[in-house]
Amino acid sequence: MITASGRTKQRSLGPSPEKINADKRFKILETHMKRFQFKQDALIEVLHKAQELFGYLDDELLFYIAQSLKLPPGRVYGVTTFYHFFTLRPKGVHICVVCMGTACYVKGAGTILSALEDTLKIKSGETTSDGQVSLLTARCIGACGIAPAVVYDGVVAPRQTPEDAIKRVKGWVKHGA
Ligand code: FES
Repeated sequence: MITASGRTKQRSLGPSPEKINADKRFKILETHMKRFQFKQDALIEVLHKAQELFGYLDDELLFYIAQSLKLPPGRVYGVTTFYHFFTLRPKGVHICVVCMGTACYVKGAGTILSALEDTLKIKSGETTSDGQVSLLTARCIGACGIAPAVVYDGVVAPRQTPEDAIKRVKGWVKHGA
């Protein structure tokens, strides 16, 4: 984790190059930073975009942003904890992020989200009482061609139906971590 002093423990450095290559969201985020010429004072804008894309900001993502903007990780972490509108990694063992961007929305993302909320008995932004699943939403995650998309534990799943999503999260609850 990133500490307030800006030090990071070894295991939570930024994402691997393979992960960055495989996940389109990093590319979109990079393009966004480029638009701001990687300026440090664009940090809040960049964090907003990252949250839009990923649904929350975990240590790995914060480190990636810190590196890209050449800022101390502790400063980036401090900003995310200062502003209430940023969500750090939720506490659920598993994380489900429903894309609610336009392409996904018109293809039924709202129905998927409602089905998940009913099944898990929580609202978006909450974690089940047993701590197994956190449910979040994001705006366009860069996978419009396979809408509606849902991200299960960091893996983007294409063309989801409410049934697909329910099956997936029920598996998590049933089998535990
Ligand atoms: S709107 Fe969902 S991936 Fe673009």
